[in-house]
Amino acid sequence: MKSYLLNPHAQLFRFGNPIETESLSYSRDRLELQIEASLPLFEVDCKTDETVLRYKMNKGDRVLGLGEAMGGADKRGRYIEAYATDDPVHTPDKSALYGAHNYLFISGHSHCGIYLDFPGRISYDIGFTHPDEMIIIIDGVDFDLYFFQNETLLETVQAFRNLQGVGYAPPKWAFGNQQSRWSYDTRNKILEVADNMRKKWLPCDAIYLDIDYMEGYKNFTIDSTRFPDFEDMVKEMRTKGFRLIPIIDAGVKIEPGYEVYEEGIEKEYFCTNIKGEPYKAAVWPGWVHFPDFQKPQVRKWFGEKYKNLVDFGIEGFWNDMNEPSIFYTCEGLKKFIEKAKECERKNLDLKDYFELETLFETLSGSKEDYESMYQMLEGHRTSHHKIHNLYGFNMTRAAAEGLQDIGSNKRFLLFSRSSFTGMGRYAGLWTGDNHSWWEHILLMIYMMPSLNMGGFLYIGSDIGGFGGDASAALLIRWSQASLLTPLFRNHSALGTRNQEPYAFDDKTTDTMRKVLELRYALIPYIYSEYMKAALKKDLYFKLLSFEYDDDHSKEVEDQLLVGDSAMMAPVYRENDRGRYIWVPEEMLLWKTVMNHQDEFQVIRPGHHYMHLELEETALFIRKNKMIVLSEPAQNVDLMNFSYLTVLAFVDHYAEYHYYDDDGISMEYKDNEQQGMIFRIHQHENAYKISVDQKGNMDVKIINFMITNMQGEFTEIVYQVSDGSLQSKQPE
Ligand code: NOJ
Repeated sequence: MKSYLLNPHAQLFRFGNPIETESLSYSRDRLELQIEASLPLFEVDCKTDETVLRYKMNKGDRVLGLGEAMGGADKRGRYIEAYATDDPVHTPDKSALYGAHNYLFISGHSHCGIYLDFPGRISYDIGFTHPDEMIIIIDGVDFDLYFFQNETLLETVQAFRNLQGVGYAPPKWAFGNQQSRWSYDTRNKILEVADNMRKKWLPCDAIYLDIDYMEGYKNFTIDSTRFPDFEDMVKEMRTKGFRLIPIIDAGVKIEPGYEVYEEGIEKEYFCTNIKGEPYKAAVWPGWVHFPDFQKPQVRKWFGEKYKNLVDFGIEGFWNDMNEPSIFYTCEGLKKFIEKAKECERKNLDLKDYFELETLFETLSGSKEDYESMYQMLEGHRTSHHKIHNLYGFNMTRAAAEGLQDIGSNKRFLLFSRSSFTGMGRYAGLWTGDNHSWWEHILLMIYMMPSLNMGGFLYIGSDIGGFGGDASAALLIRWSQASLLTPLFRNHSALGTRNQEPYAFDDKTTDTMRKVLELRYALIPYIYSEYMKAALKKDLYFKLLSFEYDDDHSKEVEDQLLVGDSAMMAPVYRENDRGRYIWVPEEMLLWKTVMNHQDEFQVIRPGHHYMHLELEETALFIRKNKMIVLSEPAQNVDLMNFSYLTVLAFVDHYAEYHYYDDDGISMEYKDNEQQGMIFRIHQHENAYKISVDQKGNMDVKIINFMITNMQGEFTEIVYQVSDGSLQSKQPE
């Protein structure tokens, strides 16, 4: 093992000869600083083909991180596997989901964290077997272990974030409301959704195309019977103010004459079996081959294919089934059929029946199938199983790099289902096939900060739940809980009840309109905080314990700090008309109420019960902080960001960097400081406000709404010209 000091708070311990995953993005010059050190706190046991790490957990230690996983924010007591898995039923006992996120932070008397850069399977037994012991088993002996340590939890996580590179920047319209379903499978259905949204005044920016837009589930094709004159449709939708977002799957249909298949075969771009023949597995179209995204030339080739759809005017994509999901292989199916035949005339006893059932259940995503698929790694044929967790990451990287070449200076919406640390530089992710269960609202709340630690910033869950039938109340509460998630998308599965915001009764539609309008009003703040987190390698979602070190804040997992100024505490239980909240310092509660003026209330530090009817949405503004708002519109393009409202809660002094840019070009990369700095001083019951402008901004009017600690409210309107506040009189 070799060790390197990357910075005072990050050390790298290199075991053996690890595979270069490119998950982190820092200057490799730092690897010149080799040091004499042994891994602190963890006991390491290197065996022949696996490595075991052990850590003795102290009584007060919390174990945070691990990204997309079941359980609360604190993973203590759980067993988790990092092995990308297509499992559409997220019950509490499940150990593996779609992503592999090998980072965790131990927060107790002191704070430390590790990141395991290893593309194969890792298991984390976090006090599941022995309550005070964490046992991590890495399925290999070659890996990089990063160790982080700093004074505070936040700084410890930031030491990891710092190595991750600048985060993915979606276009600004991607922060608007998005409507999806498996499937709006004809042109007319899409138009109907669009018309309903506009007729009912429900703001919306994008409508999704699930697999049925393709011809025979073939990537980069369009079913021209169901979607005649696709280009014209994309245009028509744009004039109505919607973008269409098609899905792209990992598997390429085996069909002679299909361009992607033919090219892939000719150039040997597909993963292979042991004999070197293209590996065959079944997904939606039946038999498919999987592109070997480990090869740079395959990434380039696949990435360029997105142009087929970009040429129609498409500006966003979602990459799916890229664990990669396998329904069955010839071998698996054969074994199952043989067993079924054997059982045909038998009186099945318990053993026979369960064997048959297990064989059927393990047809999908079986380890044997992944083991017998091969990819090229640094010129060597390697079992896919060993690098399984990189597949979705590299598919999405292919798409991102391809889109960058296609669009040059243009940003595209892109997110993926499977992921590995590092993908957050290229794209976002959604949390996959959740259910219309109340428990899954809470699961989303737990996942958001855990994902952020790994640099996944553009994230969200299927609002309303994917599987099962949603009730109106569930959709409303889920939408309220997603008020600030960067990705805000309602999506549901084939055969489930319709759950568009207009699909229930009029009152639900009215409530949903109010929630969506609030979401749009908040877009300046959401965008500003998102972009700052992406550019500065910071966090957008934080647990309270990242900022407050009182004992209660350490316990709270169902309230989140969002950006620098806001806290959310959504209601997520059926029939609840409020909830208990912990408020660590004075905060301003902003409640939107149906058919009434919004309510503002200063909440003193302590435990409170907050009443919150189904029709009401709550947002908290932290002390000496502010949020920036603008008038909602039917989509982001129609919003006027020249007229802003700053809602501030000020004791003596508050300062805020409002980041903004053109929202569509790549120029943000060199303009981290772009935006305006608002400063509010309170002095003898009066406010002195100043604005500092950096870069091109088109802000004309700012309406400052300031509340002091006594809940007294002052409204001051300023006109901005040449980057400074010129007059108190608006035009
Ligand atoms: C699985 C995805 O998770 C889901 O969102 C999608 O609707 C289906 N595949 C069909 O494409």
